[in-house]
Amino acid sequence: MGLNPRSLPDFPWDSLTPYRERAATHPEGVVDLSVGTPVDPTPSVVRDALAEASDAPGYPTTQGTLALREAVVDWFARTRGVASLEADAVLPTVGSKELVAWLPALMGLGEGDVVVHPASAYPTYDVGARLAGATALATDDVADWAGRADVRLVWINSPSNPTGRVLDREELRAIVEAARSIGAVVASDECYAALAWEEPYASAGVPSVLDPEVCGGSHEGLLAVYSLSKQSNLAGYRSAFVAGDRALVGSLLETRKHAGMIVPAPVQAATTAALADDAHVAVQRERYRARREALLPAVLDAGFDVPGSEAGLYLWATRGDDCWETLGFLADRGIVAAPGAFYGEQAREFVRIALTATDERIGQAVKRLSKGR
Ligand SMILES: Cc1ncc(COP(=O)(O)O)c(C=O)c1O
Repeated sequence: MGLNPRSLPDFPWDSLTPYRERAATHPEGVVDLSVGTPVDPTPSVVRDALAEASDAPGYPTTQGTLALREAVVDWFARTRGVASLEADAVLPTVGSKELVAWLPALMGLGEGDVVVHPASAYPTYDVGARLAGATALATDDVADWAGRADVRLVWINSPSNPTGRVLDREELRAIVEAARSIGAVVASDECYAALAWEEPYASAGVPSVLDPEVCGGSHEGLLAVYSLSKQSNLAGYRSAFVAGDRALVGSLLETRKHAGMIVPAPVQAATTAALADDAHVAVQRERYRARREALLPAVLDAGFDVPGSEAGLYLWATRGDDCWETLGFLADRGIVAAPGAFYGEQAREFVRIALTATDERIGQAVKRLSKGR
Protein backbone atom coordinates (compact mmCIF):
# COMPACT_ATOMS: atom_id res chain seq x y z
CA MET A 1 0.00 0.00 0.00
CA GLY A 2 3.01 2.31 0.51
CA LEU A 3 3.13 5.69 2.18
CA ASN A 4 0.28 6.27 4.56
CA PRO A 5 0.50 9.53 6.53
CA ARG A 6 -3.07 9.04 7.78
CA SER A 7 -1.86 6.16 9.93
CA LEU A 8 0.36 8.48 11.97
CA PRO A 9 -0.56 9.21 15.59
CA ASP A 10 -1.23 12.76 16.81
CA PHE A 11 2.02 14.59 17.54
CA PRO A 12 2.37 13.65 21.22
CA TRP A 13 4.22 16.65 22.63
CA ASP A 14 1.12 18.87 22.24
CA SER A 15 -0.54 16.94 25.08
CA LEU A 16 2.04 18.37 27.51
CA THR A 17 0.78 21.95 27.13
CA PRO A 18 -1.45 21.93 30.27
CA TYR A 19 1.43 20.59 32.40
CA ARG A 20 3.82 23.17 30.93
CA GLU A 21 1.30 25.93 31.74
CA ARG A 22 0.85 24.63 35.29
CA ALA A 23 4.64 24.44 35.78
CA ALA A 24 5.09 27.96 34.37
CA THR A 25 3.12 29.42 37.30
CA HIS A 26 6.01 28.52 39.66
CA PRO A 27 7.42 31.81 41.06
CA GLU A 28 10.95 30.86 40.06
CA GLY A 29 9.97 29.77 36.57
CA VAL A 30 9.60 26.51 34.73
CA VAL A 31 12.31 23.84 34.58
CA ASP A 32 11.64 22.06 31.31
CA LEU A 33 13.17 18.58 31.35
CA SER A 34 10.78 17.13 28.80
CA VAL A 35 12.05 17.26 25.22
CA GLY A 36 15.77 16.80 25.79
CA THR A 37 17.07 19.50 23.50
CA PRO A 38 20.72 20.53 24.06
CA VAL A 39 21.23 23.93 25.71
CA ASP A 40 25.03 24.35 25.83
CA PRO A 41 26.89 26.24 23.11
CA THR A 42 27.96 24.64 19.85
CA PRO A 43 31.77 24.26 20.18
CA SER A 44 33.82 26.94 18.40
CA VAL A 45 35.84 24.33 16.47
CA VAL A 46 32.58 23.32 14.79
CA ARG A 47 31.20 26.85 14.31
CA ASP A 48 34.48 27.96 12.71
CA ALA A 49 34.36 25.05 10.26
CA LEU A 50 30.75 25.93 9.38
CA ALA A 51 31.67 29.58 8.80
CA GLU A 52 34.67 28.70 6.67
CA ALA A 53 32.49 26.52 4.45
CA SER A 54 29.70 29.08 4.12
CA ASP A 55 30.54 30.01 0.52
CA ALA A 56 28.65 27.11 -1.07
CA PRO A 57 27.08 28.04 -4.42
CA GLY A 58 27.10 24.52 -5.87
CA TYR A 59 25.11 21.44 -4.88
CA PRO A 60 26.74 19.19 -2.30
CA THR A 61 26.83 15.46 -2.99
CA THR A 62 24.32 13.19 -1.26
CA GLN A 63 27.15 10.77 -0.52
CA GLY A 64 29.04 13.45 1.40
CA THR A 65 32.62 14.59 0.95
CA LEU A 66 35.37 12.00 1.17
CA ALA A 67 36.81 14.05 4.06
CA LEU A 68 33.54 13.63 6.00
CA ARG A 69 33.28 9.91 5.32
CA GLU A 70 36.93 9.39 6.27
CA ALA A 71 36.32 11.35 9.48
CA VAL A 72 33.52 8.89 10.28
CA VAL A 73 35.83 5.93 9.56
CA ASP A 74 38.53 7.42 11.84
CA TRP A 75 35.97 8.19 14.56
CA PHE A 76 34.67 4.59 14.55
CA ALA A 77 38.24 3.24 14.78
CA ARG A 78 39.30 5.69 17.51
CA THR A 79 36.24 5.80 19.75
CA ARG A 80 34.11 2.71 19.04
CA GLY A 81 36.59 -0.13 18.46
CA VAL A 82 35.46 -0.55 14.83
CA ALA A 83 38.51 -0.65 12.59
CA SER A 84 37.21 -2.27 9.44
CA LEU A 85 34.82 0.36 8.11
CA GLU A 86 35.44 1.88 4.69
CA ALA A 87 34.49 5.31 3.41
CA ASP A 88 32.03 3.99 0.83
CA ALA A 89 30.06 2.29 3.61
CA VAL A 90 29.24 5.68 5.20
CA LEU A 91 26.45 8.10 4.33
CA PRO A 92 25.64 11.46 5.97
CA THR A 93 22.02 12.08 6.98
CA VAL A 94 20.06 15.25 7.78
CA GLY A 95 20.09 14.49 11.50
CA SER A 96 19.17 10.91 12.29
CA LYS A 97 15.44 11.36 12.87
CA GLU A 98 14.75 11.49 9.13
CA LEU A 99 16.74 8.27 8.60
CA VAL A 100 14.86 6.56 11.41
CA ALA A 101 11.53 7.72 9.97
CA TRP A 102 12.34 6.80 6.35
CA LEU A 103 14.58 3.72 6.57
CA PRO A 104 11.76 1.17 6.16
CA ALA A 105 10.45 3.04 3.10
CA LEU A 106 13.97 3.51 1.68
CA MET A 107 14.50 -0.25 2.05
CA GLY A 108 11.33 -0.83 0.03
CA LEU A 109 9.41 -2.35 2.94
CA GLY A 110 5.63 -2.30 2.87
CA GLU A 111 2.48 -4.21 3.70
CA GLY A 112 3.15 -7.58 5.29
CA ASP A 113 6.67 -6.64 6.39
CA VAL A 114 7.45 -6.37 10.09
CA VAL A 115 9.76 -3.80 11.72
CA VAL A 116 10.85 -4.76 15.24
CA HIS A 117 11.73 -2.03 17.74
CA PRO A 118 12.40 -1.93 21.51
CA ALA A 119 9.41 -2.25 23.87
CA SER A 120 9.94 1.21 25.40
CA ALA A 121 11.14 3.22 22.45
CA TYR A 122 11.75 6.47 20.68
CA PRO A 123 8.42 6.83 18.82
CA THR A 124 9.97 7.42 15.39
CA TYR A 125 10.74 3.69 14.88
CA ASP A 126 7.00 3.08 14.89
CA VAL A 127 6.40 6.12 12.68
CA GLY A 128 8.89 4.74 10.13
CA ALA A 129 7.06 1.42 9.94
CA ARG A 130 3.75 3.24 9.51
CA LEU A 131 5.06 5.56 6.78
CA ALA A 132 6.15 2.50 4.80
CA GLY A 133 2.83 0.72 5.38
CA ALA A 134 4.69 -2.00 7.31
CA THR A 135 3.80 -3.35 10.76
CA ALA A 136 5.74 -2.47 13.90
CA LEU A 137 6.41 -5.05 16.61
CA ALA A 138 7.48 -3.60 19.98
CA THR A 139 9.50 -6.12 21.98
CA ASP A 140 12.82 -6.62 23.76
CA ASP A 141 12.53 -10.39 23.50
CA VAL A 142 14.34 -11.94 20.52
CA ALA A 143 12.15 -15.05 20.90
CA ASP A 144 9.13 -12.92 19.82
CA TRP A 145 10.51 -12.61 16.28
CA ALA A 146 13.28 -15.20 15.82
CA GLY A 147 12.60 -17.44 12.82
CA ARG A 148 9.88 -15.20 11.35
CA ALA A 149 10.29 -14.64 7.62
CA ASP A 150 8.14 -11.48 7.64
CA VAL A 151 10.58 -9.61 9.92
CA ARG A 152 12.68 -7.42 7.60
CA LEU A 153 14.18 -4.83 9.94
CA VAL A 154 15.15 -4.90 13.62
CA TRP A 155 15.84 -1.61 15.40
CA ILE A 156 18.00 -1.56 18.46
CA ASN A 157 18.77 1.52 20.55
CA SER A 158 21.67 1.32 22.96
CA PRO A 159 22.05 3.34 25.12
CA SER A 160 18.28 3.53 25.06
CA ASN A 161 16.02 6.51 24.88
CA PRO A 162 14.09 6.46 27.21
CA THR A 163 15.38 3.76 29.59
CA GLY A 164 19.13 4.49 29.52
CA ARG A 165 19.87 0.77 29.26
CA VAL A 166 22.97 -0.44 27.41
CA LEU A 167 23.06 -3.72 25.49
CA ASP A 168 26.27 -5.66 26.11
CA ARG A 169 28.16 -7.50 23.37
CA GLU A 170 26.43 -10.79 24.12
CA GLU A 171 22.96 -9.26 23.87
CA LEU A 172 23.89 -7.49 20.64
CA ARG A 173 25.37 -10.68 19.18
CA ALA A 174 22.19 -12.64 19.95
CA ILE A 175 20.11 -10.04 18.08
CA VAL A 176 22.51 -9.96 15.10
CA GLU A 177 22.57 -13.77 14.84
CA ALA A 178 18.77 -14.07 15.04
CA ALA A 179 18.34 -11.35 12.40
CA ARG A 180 20.93 -12.83 10.06
CA SER A 181 19.32 -16.25 10.22
CA ILE A 182 16.10 -14.76 8.75
CA GLY A 183 17.82 -12.28 6.41
CA ALA A 184 16.59 -9.23 8.37
CA VAL A 185 18.58 -6.01 8.62
CA VAL A 186 19.66 -4.76 12.07
CA ALA A 187 19.71 -0.97 12.40
CA SER A 188 21.38 0.15 15.61
CA ASP A 189 20.60 3.68 16.81
CA GLU A 190 23.67 4.57 18.89
CA CYS A 191 23.24 8.34 19.30
CA TYR A 192 23.87 8.28 23.09
CA ALA A 193 27.02 6.14 22.87
CA ALA A 194 29.32 8.94 24.06
CA LEU A 195 27.26 9.47 27.22
CA ALA A 196 27.79 6.47 29.54
CA TRP A 197 27.76 6.97 33.31
CA GLU A 198 28.06 3.56 34.90
CA GLU A 199 30.67 0.82 34.60
CA PRO A 200 31.77 -1.00 32.59
CA TYR A 201 30.55 1.39 29.90
CA ALA A 202 31.85 4.64 31.44
CA SER A 203 35.44 3.37 31.11
CA ALA A 204 35.29 0.85 28.28
CA GLY A 205 32.73 2.60 26.08
CA VAL A 206 29.38 1.45 24.73
CA PRO A 207 29.68 -1.39 22.18
CA SER A 208 28.60 -0.72 18.60
CA VAL A 209 26.72 -3.23 16.45
CA LEU A 210 29.73 -2.96 14.10
CA ASP A 211 32.13 -4.09 16.86
CA PRO A 212 33.97 -7.22 15.57
CA GLU A 213 33.00 -9.18 18.70
CA VAL A 214 29.35 -8.45 17.94
CA CYS A 215 29.25 -8.89 14.18
CA GLY A 216 32.00 -11.48 13.72
CA GLY A 217 34.01 -9.09 11.56
CA SER A 218 31.37 -8.73 8.81
CA HIS A 219 29.03 -5.75 8.54
CA GLU A 220 26.61 -7.65 6.32
CA GLY A 221 23.02 -6.74 7.11
CA LEU A 222 24.04 -4.18 9.73
CA LEU A 223 23.66 -0.41 9.97
CA ALA A 224 24.92 1.81 12.77
CA VAL A 225 23.05 5.12 13.03
CA TYR A 226 24.78 7.98 14.81
CA SER A 227 24.00 11.63 15.49
CA LEU A 228 26.11 14.56 16.63
CA SER A 229 23.08 16.39 18.05
CA LYS A 230 23.77 15.39 21.65
CA GLN A 231 27.51 14.71 21.87
CA SER A 232 28.43 17.97 20.09
CA ASN A 233 25.41 20.28 20.67
CA LEU A 234 24.59 20.17 16.97
CA ALA A 235 20.86 19.46 17.05
CA GLY A 236 20.30 22.71 15.16
CA TYR A 237 22.73 21.76 12.42
CA ARG A 238 21.08 18.38 11.61
CA SER A 239 24.32 16.40 11.61
CA ALA A 240 24.33 12.59 11.56
CA PHE A 241 25.33 9.55 9.55
CA VAL A 242 24.63 5.89 8.87
CA ALA A 243 27.37 3.31 8.30
CA GLY A 244 27.79 -0.43 7.94
CA ASP A 245 26.79 -2.83 5.17
CA ARG A 246 28.32 -1.34 2.01
CA ALA A 247 25.66 -2.71 -0.38
CA LEU A 248 22.84 -1.50 1.82
CA VAL A 249 24.42 1.93 2.27
CA GLY A 250 24.92 2.07 -1.53
CA SER A 251 21.25 1.34 -2.14
CA LEU A 252 20.17 3.96 0.43
CA LEU A 253 22.47 6.44 -1.35
CA GLU A 254 20.85 5.79 -4.74
CA THR A 255 17.33 6.39 -3.40
CA ARG A 256 18.37 9.40 -1.34
CA LYS A 257 20.00 10.96 -4.42
CA HIS A 258 16.67 10.78 -6.23
CA ALA A 259 14.82 12.13 -3.21
CA GLY A 260 17.14 15.07 -2.48
CA MET A 261 18.04 13.92 1.02
CA ILE A 262 21.28 15.91 1.05
CA VAL A 263 23.27 17.31 3.97
CA PRO A 264 24.15 21.00 3.29
CA ALA A 265 27.84 21.54 2.41
CA PRO A 266 28.62 23.77 5.43
CA VAL A 267 27.10 21.15 7.76
CA GLN A 268 29.21 18.45 6.10
CA ALA A 269 32.31 20.54 6.85
CA ALA A 270 31.17 21.21 10.41
CA THR A 271 30.50 17.51 10.99
CA THR A 272 33.97 16.63 9.66
CA ALA A 273 35.56 19.04 12.14
CA ALA A 274 33.40 17.83 15.04
CA LEU A 275 34.27 14.18 14.43
CA ALA A 276 38.00 14.95 14.49
CA ASP A 277 37.83 16.64 17.89
CA ASP A 278 37.26 14.45 20.96
CA ALA A 279 38.02 17.25 23.44
CA HIS A 280 34.68 19.05 23.14
CA VAL A 281 32.82 15.74 23.52
CA ALA A 282 34.66 15.11 26.80
CA VAL A 283 33.76 18.60 28.05
CA GLN A 284 30.09 18.09 27.20
CA ARG A 285 30.06 14.63 28.80
CA GLU A 286 31.36 16.14 32.05
CA ARG A 287 28.61 18.80 31.99
CA TYR A 288 25.96 16.12 31.74
CA ARG A 289 27.70 13.94 34.33
CA ALA A 290 27.62 16.82 36.84
CA ARG A 291 23.93 17.49 36.13
CA ARG A 292 23.09 13.81 36.52
CA GLU A 293 25.03 13.61 39.79
CA ALA A 294 23.07 16.60 41.12
CA LEU A 295 19.65 15.53 39.87
CA LEU A 296 19.64 11.77 40.52
CA PRO A 297 19.82 11.95 44.37
CA ALA A 298 17.10 14.62 44.38
CA VAL A 299 14.83 12.48 42.20
CA LEU A 300 15.42 9.49 44.49
CA ASP A 301 14.75 11.72 47.52
CA ALA A 302 11.42 12.71 46.02
CA GLY A 303 10.28 9.09 46.15
CA PHE A 304 11.20 7.95 42.66
CA ASP A 305 12.81 4.68 41.68
CA VAL A 306 15.28 5.10 38.78
CA PRO A 307 16.11 1.70 37.26
CA GLY A 308 18.47 1.49 34.26
CA SER A 309 19.53 5.02 33.28
CA GLU A 310 23.16 3.82 33.18
CA ALA A 311 23.84 5.90 30.08
CA GLY A 312 22.19 8.54 27.91
CA LEU A 313 20.56 11.84 28.62
CA TYR A 314 17.60 10.83 30.76
CA LEU A 315 16.53 9.56 34.14
CA TRP A 316 13.85 6.92 33.59
CA ALA A 317 11.91 7.31 36.80
CA THR A 318 8.77 5.98 38.48
CA ARG A 319 6.82 6.65 41.66
CA GLY A 320 4.58 3.68 40.93
CA ASP A 321 1.78 6.05 39.84
CA ASP A 322 0.35 6.66 36.39
CA CYS A 323 2.71 8.89 34.39
CA TRP A 324 0.15 11.71 34.07
CA GLU A 325 -0.28 11.82 37.83
CA THR A 326 3.49 12.00 38.24
CA LEU A 327 3.63 14.78 35.61
CA GLY A 328 1.14 16.67 37.80
CA PHE A 329 3.36 16.14 40.88
CA LEU A 330 6.32 17.54 38.93
CA ALA A 331 4.31 20.41 37.39
CA ASP A 332 3.31 21.51 40.92
CA ARG A 333 7.04 21.95 41.52
CA GLY A 334 7.46 23.86 38.24
CA ILE A 335 9.11 20.90 36.47
CA VAL A 336 8.09 19.39 33.13
CA ALA A 337 9.07 15.83 32.16
CA ALA A 338 7.96 13.45 29.41
CA PRO A 339 5.29 10.82 30.18
CA GLY A 340 6.21 7.15 29.80
CA ALA A 341 3.05 6.70 27.71
CA PHE A 342 4.90 8.39 24.82
CA TYR A 343 7.29 5.45 24.73
CA GLY A 344 4.96 2.46 24.97
CA GLU A 345 1.96 1.11 26.88
CA GLN A 346 4.07 -0.85 29.38
CA ALA A 347 5.90 2.36 30.33
CA ARG A 348 2.77 4.09 31.68
CA GLU A 349 4.11 4.32 35.23
CA PHE A 350 7.36 6.00 34.18
CA VAL A 351 8.39 9.53 33.34
CA ARG A 352 11.50 10.55 31.44
CA ILE A 353 13.49 13.36 33.04
CA ALA A 354 16.07 14.95 30.71
CA LEU A 355 19.51 16.16 31.81
CA THR A 356 19.46 18.81 29.07
CA ALA A 357 19.00 22.01 31.05
CA THR A 358 21.42 24.63 32.26
CA ASP A 359 23.22 24.12 35.58
CA GLU A 360 21.04 26.88 37.03
CA ARG A 361 17.77 25.16 35.98
CA ILE A 362 19.01 21.75 37.16
CA GLY A 363 19.88 23.43 40.48
CA GLN A 364 16.30 24.71 40.69
CA ALA A 365 14.93 21.23 40.03
CA VAL A 366 17.16 19.78 42.75
CA LYS A 367 15.96 22.42 45.24
CA ARG A 368 12.29 21.87 44.46
CA LEU A 369 12.45 18.07 44.53
CA SER A 370 14.41 17.99 47.76
CA LYS A 371 11.78 20.23 49.40
CA GLY A 372 9.12 17.71 48.37
CA ARG A 373 10.42 15.05 50.77
C1 LIG B 1 16.94 7.40 20.12
C2 LIG B 1 17.01 8.59 19.24
N1 LIG B 1 17.27 8.44 17.95
C3 LIG B 1 17.35 9.48 17.12
C4 LIG B 1 17.16 10.76 17.56
C5 LIG B 1 17.21 11.89 16.57
O1 LIG B 1 18.29 12.69 16.70
P1 LIG B 1 18.66 13.75 15.58
O2 LIG B 1 17.58 13.76 14.56
O3 LIG B 1 18.81 15.04 16.29
O4 LIG B 1 19.95 13.27 14.98
C6 LIG B 1 16.89 10.99 18.91
C7 LIG B 1 16.68 12.36 19.39
O5 LIG B 1 16.33 12.63 20.48
C8 LIG B 1 16.81 9.88 19.77
O6 LIG B 1 16.55 10.02 21.07
